[in-house]
Amino acid sequence: MNLNCASTERFRFEVRATDGLARAGAIQTAHGPLETPAFMVVGTVGTVKAMTADAVRCTGTQCVLGNTYHLMLRPGAERIAALGGLHRFMDWPGPILTDSGGFQIMSLAALRKIDADGVTFQSHIDGSRHRLTPAICMELQRQFDSTVTMVLDECTAFPATYEDAEASMEMSMRWALSSKEAFTRRPGYGLFGIVQGSTFPDLRLRSVKALKDIGFDGYAVGGLAVGEGQAAMLSTLDITVPQLPADAPRYLMGVGTPDDILGAVQRGIDMFDCVIPTRAGRTARAYTSAGIRNMRNARYADDAGPLDPECPCPACTRHSRAYLHHLFRTQEMLGPMLLTWHNITYYQSLMRGIRQAIQAGGFAAFAAGKRAAWQAGDV
Ligand code: GUN
Ligand code: ZN
Repeated sequence: MNLNCASTERFRFEVRATDGLARAGAIQTAHGPLETPAFMVVGTVGTVKAMTADAVRCTGTQCVLGNTYHLMLRPGAERIAALGGLHRFMDWPGPILTDSGGFQIMSLAALRKIDADGVTFQSHIDGSRHRLTPAICMELQRQFDSTVTMVLDECTAFPATYEDAEASMEMSMRWALSSKEAFTRRPGYGLFGIVQGSTFPDLRLRSVKALKDIGFDGYAVGGLAVGEGQAAMLSTLDITVPQLPADAPRYLMGVGTPDDILGAVQRGIDMFDCVIPTRAGRTARAYTSAGIRNMRNARYADDAGPLDPECPCPACTRHSRAYLHHLFRTQEMLGPMLLTWHNITYYQSLMRGIRQAIQAGGFAAFAAGKRAAWQAGDV
């Protein structure tokens, strides 16, 4: 057996540099490396909306995220497995992380019923009935061939009473144990636990301890960016992150804006995912080195300049602001395609800058410089 081949590669995380609490490193997986801090692009149903897989690769993206809830409904996990797994199905040979479904069921499915063992729900597409338990959730993600599997959890709604947040967190911790027991370990594949506990410090600490006792390849912080606001999110990270194992990757789920990412990296987070760059791209909002620009704005109708002179993407190097404006005014498909490409490129350039700044010991100055430049934005 060739011990160097990718499929026998251990799931391994290496911190290469630290700057305060911020870390720069890399995760080695069965599907290649993921440099951290990393931004994972959302590809809910096995596609990053408006992008070919080649285009996603061109942005510097190393890992895409799929959703168990959507993929189990369409096209179904058995079908994906029969077609060679999600990597082959969507032409993404790199790492794929799949979220477990609990979060999406709560926001999308009809007639959800939670019991101690799992959740029964009706599809938002055709009303068909389905059940998700930790064991089923692990089997679905195995069928997808997900590089990183997430435990089944409940994203506690915000705001929650202490009693509700406690009961929800304790259920998620029981599901985390059941998920670990049902997870099939394979070289280069990982299973992440998810910290819950709303904005209650002692619940967060109990959740961290429960997950550490079980033991995971990585630790996600869930239940944030659900309406608590940036200050409460960051103070929850202040309490939570230092208690997480230093030698495992830490993933802040569903976050966020560029400014959120700087704040979370400063507190020791290594991985992010968010719909912001893709969703904003489809609605004419461009993230640039000078802040957010709305390309529908009439001020761009005659602007021959590049969207962002610092950006290497096709929207910025081959087209004018006037052309992008025209595409959105005429509702042409190329508008969302180009702006999605741009926004992902912007996010990945930001992450590369963050990694380099940490390695050079200049993260604080880098973050201050970015924030000052965004202030100049014209929105
Ligand atoms: N995405 C954003 N927040 C969460 C969360 O708390 N749990 C899960 N599974 N996914 C999320
Ligand atoms: Zn660009």
